This record gives sequence, C-alpha cells and structure tokens, in this order.
Amino acid sequence: MNKTILITGGAGFIGSHVVREFVLKYPEYRIVNLDALTYAGNLENLKDIEHLHNYTFVKGDITDQHAVLAIFQEYQPDGIVHLAAESHVDRSIVDPMAFVMTNVIGTVNLLNAARIIWKDNFEGKRFHHVSTDEVFGALGNEGYFTEETKYDPHSPYSASKASSDHFVRAYHDTYGLPIVLTNCSNNYGPNHFPEKLIPLCIHNILNNKALPVYGDGKYTRDWLYVIDHAKAIDLVFHEGKNGDSYNVGGFNEWQNIDLIKELCKQMDEKLDRAKGSSAQLITFVKDRPGHDLRYAIDATKINKELGWKPSVTFEEGLSLTIDWFLSNQEWLEHVTSGDYKKYYDNQYKDA
Ligand code: NAD
Ligand code: TYD
Repeated sequence: MNKTILITGGAGFIGSHVVREFVLKYPEYRIVNLDALTYAGNLENLKDIEHLHNYTFVKGDITDQHAVLAIFQEYQPDGIVHLAAESHVDRSIVDPMAFVMTNVIGTVNLLNAARIIWKDNFEGKRFHHVSTDEVFGALGNEGYFTEETKYDPHSPYSASKASSDHFVRAYHDTYGLPIVLTNCSNNYGPNHFPEKLIPLCIHNILNNKALPVYGDGKYTRDWLYVIDHAKAIDLVFHEGKNGDSYNVGGFNEWQNIDLIKELCKQMDEKLDRAKGSSAQLITFVKDRPGHDLRYAIDATKINKELGWKPSVTFEEGLSLTIDWFLSNQEWLEHVTSGDYKKYYDNQYKDA
C-alpha cells in the first residue's frame, strides 16, 4: 500500500460513495473509514465493498480529541478526506450544539491530529475539507456563488460549516497545513437519508403519506447526483491546488415544487399508478425559519482547471435514484424504523 487515506463520515450518504470511489479506483491505497455511526451513518451503505483488502472501518467520534489522535497515530494517514458532520438544516434548528460539536470542534480535532502526526513535515500530505454552498447564504433570483463570494451563513448548520471552513483555511495560513476545500450544492442519489427532501418524498409516496412542501415551495436548490460529487472530490483531492477551494454544482436549479412534481410524475410511471395520483399528496406546510431562498453554484473553476462536469442529467439521475430506492426498500425500512419515527412525528406534526 503506497498511501493511507482516512475518510471521515464514510458511512453516511455522500461519504459512502466517496469511500467506494477511492477503494475501487485506488487498490494501492489503504482506505480507513472513520465514522461514529450516528443516526445518519449506516454500514449497510458499504456492504458491497467492505470485504475488499484495502478497506478498513474504524468506529470513532471526531468530537473526542484523544480518540482521534490515537486513530491518527495508529493508521498514520497521508491524506484526510473529511465528510463527517451533522448535515441536516432542520435538525440544526432544534439542536444547534450538536452541530457546533461535530462540525466545528470535530474538524479542529482532526486538524490538530494531522499537525501532530505530520510534525509540520507536509510533503505528500493533504487535508481535504468537504463543505457546502450554504456557507454563502442566500441568493435572490439572479446570480451565482463563486469561490470569491463572501460567507454569509444563516442556519445553525451553515454557520457551523462556515466556521469549520474558516478553521481549515486558518490552519493553512498559520501552520502551512496543506489543504483543499470543496463547497458543493444539494446532492441526491442512492443511500440518501429520508430526512432530506427527495428521499423523504420518495418514502412518503411509497407509503401514501403527505409530501410536505415548506412555505410556497418556490425555494430553489441546485441538485447534483452524488456520484458526480464523489468524482469531484477525488479530482480535487488529487489535483486541486494547495490552499484553494472549488465550488461543485450541477448547473441544475429547481424550485422545490417543480422538483416534487417531476418526482411524482416519475414515481407514478414507475409504480404504474394513475397519472397525477402522487401529486395529490402535495401538502403546503409551515415554512422553515430563516429559509434561504435560492442556492446556485458557478462551477466554472473546477470545470476549467480540472475538467470536471456532471455526468448525468437531472432526469436520468432522478430516475436512477428512484430505481435504487424501489429495489432497496429493505434499506429504507431499516433507516425509517426506531428513532426516525420520533424525528418525523415531531418535525411534521402539522403536515
Ligand atoms: P450524512 O448526515 O448523511 O452523513 C454524515 C456521516 O458523518 C454519518 O455517517 C455519521 O455517522 C458521521 N458522523 C456524524 N457525526 C460524527 C462524529 N461526531 N464523529 C464521526 N462521525 C460522525 O451527511 P452527508 O449528506 O453525507 O454529508 C457529508 C458531508 O458533505 C458533510 O460534511 C456535509 O456538510 C457535506 N455536504 C452535504 C451536502 C448534501 O447535499 N447532503 C451538500 C454539500 C456538502
Ligand atoms: P433539504 O433536503 O433539507 O436540503 P437543504 O435544506 O440543505 O437545502 O431541503 C431542500 C429544500 O426542500 C429546502 O428548500 C427545504 C425544502 N424542504 C421542504 O419543502 N420539505 C421538506 O420536508 C424538506 C425536508 C425540505
């Protein structure tokens, strides 16, 4: 094995796709997946690759500085791809401190451990921080987020991610730690946890439950198929310029209400239901406080400098996603049993 790469949060939605990409593409690397297996972490996401010789799973919590350092000392990673996070805006409104702990403190623990084991000798080393476009705040009807857009986070989630981004840059500027950052738009695809809009609606359509649309449904997000995000992370980790950040997006904006209607249309066809039947489940509910109107990424830099672009259209990606959920209903049943029910009943009591 010529390199050890430690991926945090590799049992989560995006992390599991990043782990798979690295394990399969780089058999010469040892890939260590460090994950606390919170409600969002699920080893079922990695069933197909967990037996491979270059993959190791370590259960650990990044908020525990001693545990993090011990893991770094044991595995001596050359590179870190950091995805572990509390990731859901609605949960951050209910419990902001969990977001401070994992997203801020956890990130600083990883940065410190990297400095300690690399002993300020950074040749061949790299810390890749995976972040979100939500750090840039909200756009009006026009314009795009570029790498130069000023940070202006509004939710406790985006504030915690913005803080972690600043710490990563501060360790580069202060200690010379080799870093890259990616700020990506909304992902969707296989293994997406059904607290987020698309998998929640797929789950509810399957169960004939209301599709809760916050406010007037005119909020806009830029959606990217998760495997395209994983490929962008691989590219930036290996070829991105030290100290730089790269915006990653799908060039694919949808108002929530139009997206849900498209989803309903595809679900009716795939489930052989009467045209228009899923759309009848659409229910407008109380808005999310501080709801950002629009996110849209200008991904010119990663396209021009590294040659990355999305590989599937939204209609194809959505179709692949629905097919995955239809063939993995057992996965959906597992993740929606237990605590999910409590979360759902509390979050959607008015729906
Ligand atoms: P997720 O919630 O599906 O997964 C997070 C993973 O981190 C889980 O496996 C969980 O067990 C693990 N984790 C949480 N707290 C931990 C802790 N204290 N110690 C160790 N592991 C812990 O999240 P996701 O949607 O896959 O997002 C991954 C990363 O990508 C996050 O940093 C998120 O901010 C960023 N991101 C997400 C999106 C998106 O659309 N989901 C878009 C852009 C950026
Ligand atoms: P979400 O999937 O939570 O991602 P994010 O908040 O990180 O963008 O939400 C996507 C959009 O869908 C956002 O505008 C909020 C909206 N939304 C609903 O209208 N209903 C829902 O039940 C959820 C979860 C989200």
